[in-house]
Amino acid sequence: MNGLHRLEYRGYDSSGIAFDGDDIEDNHVSKSKRACLLVRQKGKVEELEHAVKSLENVAWDAEFTVHVGIAHTRWATHGEPSAINSHPQRSDDQNQFVCVHNGIITNYKDIKQYLMNKGYVFESETDTECVVKLVKYLYDKHKNEKISFQKLIEMACSQLEGAFALLFKSIHYPGELCATRRGSPMVIGVKCADQLAANHIPVMFSKDLRGIFSPPLMITDHSTTELAVTSNDRSIEYYFASDASAIIEHTNQVIFMEDDDLAVVSNGALTIHRTQHGEVSGQSAIREIHELKIELQQIMKGNYKYFMQKEIFEQPESVVNTMRGRINFNTRKVVLGGIKDYINEIKRCRRLILIACGTSYHSAVATRQLLEELTELPVMVELASDFLDRSTPVFRDDVCIFISQSGETADTILALRYCKQRGALIVGFTNTVGSSISRESHCGVHLNAGPEIGVASTKAYTSQFIALVLFALVLSEDSISKEPRRKAIIEGLQQMPELIKKVLQCDKQIREYAEALYKETSLLVMGRGFNFATCLEGALKVKELTYMHSEGILAGELKHGPLAMVDDTMPIVMIIMDDPVKTKCMNAYSQVQARGGQPVLICNDDDHELLKLSHKHIGVPRIVDCLQGVLCVVPMQLLSFHIATLRGFDVDCPRNLAKSVTVA
Ligand code: G6P
Repeated sequence: MNGLHRLEYRGYDSSGIAFDGDDIEDNHVSKSKRACLLVRQKGKVEELEHAVKSLENVAWDAEFTVHVGIAHTRWATHGEPSAINSHPQRSDDQNQFVCVHNGIITNYKDIKQYLMNKGYVFESETDTECVVKLVKYLYDKHKNEKISFQKLIEMACSQLEGAFALLFKSIHYPGELCATRRGSPMVIGVKCADQLAANHIPVMFSKDLRGIFSPPLMITDHSTTELAVTSNDRSIEYYFASDASAIIEHTNQVIFMEDDDLAVVSNGALTIHRTQHGEVSGQSAIREIHELKIELQQIMKGNYKYFMQKEIFEQPESVVNTMRGRINFNTRKVVLGGIKDYINEIKRCRRLILIACGTSYHSAVATRQLLEELTELPVMVELASDFLDRSTPVFRDDVCIFISQSGETADTILALRYCKQRGALIVGFTNTVGSSISRESHCGVHLNAGPEIGVASTKAYTSQFIALVLFALVLSEDSISKEPRRKAIIEGLQQMPELIKKVLQCDKQIREYAEALYKETSLLVMGRGFNFATCLEGALKVKELTYMHSEGILAGELKHGPLAMVDDTMPIVMIIMDDPVKTKCMNAYSQVQARGGQPVLICNDDDHELLKLSHKHIGVPRIVDCLQGVLCVVPMQLLSFHIATLRGFDVDCPRNLAKSVTVA
């Protein structure tokens, strides 16, 4: 249940759990088997918790004898949020096979039709139900062959198209669990209760795979036959999750599964196999046990009411963590260890293509101008989905940069594979160690912002912004003409944490503006130059959290359409910094005012000319123009946060959204 709570940010419209119940006394199955209890509930995990606790005949305070359990929190793709559409999905009303699934099975209609023709009756609208019913169908078909759970799941998965991370449990295979993935993430946590067991962690690999473990980690055996482990060995626990945050309170020793890996826990031992499908997909043959550095406290709310609020206020530290060990403020040397061997190749490229979704895309828009200025390379910024829709030409001498907080966004991963196939160099900027994007990139930069739980991205954005600025600094290191500019930027970066703290002090004042705005239905955010991205990101925060209509408008486009929306009732925020586009922004401000608009200004706190113009303003400290966007976005994060809470919405779980969208 705790694990589900930690995953709730990825989806929260319904949830469910299946676990071992009493011994089965039914004639249908043999006596050594245990029933499978299945509880599913619409709503947040809390609702599920109540439902499970109110189950009769389950002694919650007694020692729990559950051997295998699977659970899921859902973000609906196929079928509305309801108990019946929640996972685990089941094969039949005895719950002989149950399964949880992340992803989308694209050929589910064909499978469903096939099974319906065989007499199967479907109860949900999900694509997942066809998977678990397919398993049951194959089990019945091969019943006399005493087929293993592994073989069965392998056979079923070979029929699936699309993306999935799947966990299976069955009353026919007591104490066993099967896990597999293709395109959706899955991590395995291994926990040993005592040291003796820690030296003999039973992780085994099928012939074509091997493991690497750094000391003091564990001894393993590469053959699936030689290692004997008794099923009574309760000192070892295995955890399977789509995200390490769900398991970190139990263990920090994890193995990241690769596409087409099939992991089986049986007789207390974990074995990792390659499925036949996997043999052609050319994955690495090595699986490592990683020691994760996440602390439990990092994924708790601390003194804040919401994760998002905590993450906004963490930014003075998270930006430091992004810069830590990478900038020498005295010598002005910037080193990004993850890409240092590729710098020359990057400098020689035809163009830089930055590809991402959502907020991560905005960090690319925010830093594009600086990248162009410092590298003198053509820079394209692309939304991953659109980039693929257009089948954009990509060449071997392109450098493609993928920016993603989670490292698991399906559209971004698909675009990455598309570019990789065409021979481009792949650079990943992610906040999640071991994520698909970080593993599939040739080289990359970790954001080190710490886990971000709030669905609306805040600290990851400012860290992406800074990491991309560092990237621009690294690429321009040899340029004498760029030296004064680099110096100003590095000085700005040094001041950044203190200046963010100063912006955060405006929280109370911003809440007052929110009080004036929260009953409105619309909010326009206007600006240009380095702060156009701030407008896009600010408007996205407002949309995501408050459900108001909001648009980020390039002030240069105002007279080409958006001005028609302006009158004395339209709420507007304008970002006008003391930078090269200030005069143009002032023109836009006059045009808005002439139509009765009374924008709230976000401007430099020492720009007296502007401060005099409007009594509604939020002053942010002055910093070098290309970094101003980091400071300007903070008031927009706070404004959207306050409007949403005033409207009574849960900012950590905005409706219809999920933190990482692992379906394309
Ligand atoms: C989802 C989230 C956004 C996020 C986007 C990209 O839409 O709700 O907050 O910006 O995905 O996610 P990524 O993990 O790739 O940065």
